[in-house]
Amino acid sequence: MRRPLPRLYVVATKVLEARLEGKEQQQSFLFRQDKARDLRRIKRLVCLAQENFDQLTESLERAGFSFEVCDKKLAAIVAADVAFSSPEYLPKSSNHKVKEILRYQETLRSLAHAAKIYPAAQIPRIRYAILNRLKISQSTLGKMLNKLGFIEKKFEAPPGTTPDAVIESYWNHLDNLRASEYSWDIHFPDDVLVFSSKGDIHMKKLVLEWKQLLMFNKSVMAPVQALDPKNGDTVLDTCAAPGNKSVLAAQSCSGLVSCERNNKRFKLLAENLELSGVTGKRRCEVIHSDFLKIDNSDPRLIKVTKALVDPSCSGGGDFDHTLDQSRVEKLANLQTMILKKVLRLPSLRTVVYSTCSSQTRENEGVVTEVLEWADGQPEENGQWVLEKALPNLPFRGDEDFFPGVGDKCLFFNHERSRTSVQFVAKFVRKLRGETRMEIKKKCRLETKKKLKRLKQKRRKHQKEKLSKEANNKRSDHGRRSIK
Ligand SMILES: C[S@@+](CC[C@H](N)C(=O)[O-])C[C@H]1O[C@@H](n2cnc3c(N)ncnc32)[C@H](O)[C@@H]1O
Repeated sequence: MRRPLPRLYVVATKVLEARLEGKEQQQSFLFRQDKARDLRRIKRLVCLAQENFDQLTESLERAGFSFEVCDKKLAAIVAADVAFSSPEYLPKSSNHKVKEILRYQETLRSLAHAAKIYPAAQIPRIRYAILNRLKISQSTLGKMLNKLGFIEKKFEAPPGTTPDAVIESYWNHLDNLRASEYSWDIHFPDDVLVFSSKGDIHMKKLVLEWKQLLMFNKSVMAPVQALDPKNGDTVLDTCAAPGNKSVLAAQSCSGLVSCERNNKRFKLLAENLELSGVTGKRRCEVIHSDFLKIDNSDPRLIKVTKALVDPSCSGGGDFDHTLDQSRVEKLANLQTMILKKVLRLPSLRTVVYSTCSSQTRENEGVVTEVLEWADGQPEENGQWVLEKALPNLPFRGDEDFFPGVGDKCLFFNHERSRTSVQFVAKFVRKLRGETRMEIKKKCRLETKKKLKRLKQKRRKHQKEKLSKEANNKRSDHGRRSIK
């Protein structure tokens, strides 16, 4: 019987093919592979296979490998994995093509040695998952995981040590998680769980079918936590597909407006919002449009109080060395335009800007440009300022090159936080003549009023329901007595 190829290799080969033929952006291709969760690993594999394509295929050929077994692109992907990853992280596969390439392990490894590319700590040993409160509570999830054989392993920080030592010891704790163990994350302890990548949590029904656990990277949580959506807030996600941040924001806000311009990605967004339980539980508007073309006086945008701006970016990550700087510049201009448009929305109080790019031009660069622009804007609706995003987190932006900006922003990547790349900046609107305390008080009052209105509405609804039931009973009784 023919054994299937590991999905990792199938997806990576498709991406490599698209890249080599210059057909489309690796990033957009990857996004459409919505079941392929290990995007970081795929990206790394594709970059290594592309950069070392000739060396990998030529050494296989010289060592006697026949390309009749499999085509060169697939061979390059599997060979890159064999050459540059730790053996313990290679997918266990009985596929004959993989087995054949594995026979040349020694040759491939010596190639990696010569190229000085080592299987560093780059490959995640951990798998993040995020609790979906729209589907399950924290305690029920704990019980379910227990039933599935997963045991919580608590992290205890060594007493009296420095923050750096605590983090080191935490990484150690995660590295030593067994396949059946999990831990709540140290930075987002109420939402993010960490599993060992040796386990099979991602194959369980609570992930695949019920969406009670969302297999998003931990760094996706950062922009949403910085935005801090609350009951009473309507959150706008200007560039929403596939919807990861929209789904997370919907956990705690009252209304959601998600906008996406791309046709296929719009469908994926709508599907993900539905499957994750957002549609139906929250006031939810999904807009298929270029956000730049929507009028700021559009009724759908009027109630918005907080916004996420997570536009297309170069998605440079850590491994892509083929970035075209003119493309980065174009993207930075687009990001700036979207941000400026959002900041003009009159009802907005907080805006979080995020990218998955490691290019400072698209990150601190865009923020600096937008702040300078905001400084020159009329103040009738208040002044936008940069606020320190999640001040307790250590992963700060580039303060050396962007003084006054970098430290207020967050920057996650594998080396610092063991996560995917994520940049986060938080803008808040300071109303004219008001102190921050006054603004907070005003927001609290607004929320109270909204809650009061909501309670009144609920009471009215309850009353109507009761009187309807009473009427039904009466007419039932009448019918019976006629019989
Ligand atoms: C980085 S992705 C967003 C990821 C999303 N926030 C999440 O967490 O799942 C950027 C998305 O923005 C969309 N986009 C880019 N420019 C846009 C615009 N002007 N209006 C609406 N959507 C846009 C792209 O099609 C793409 O789907």
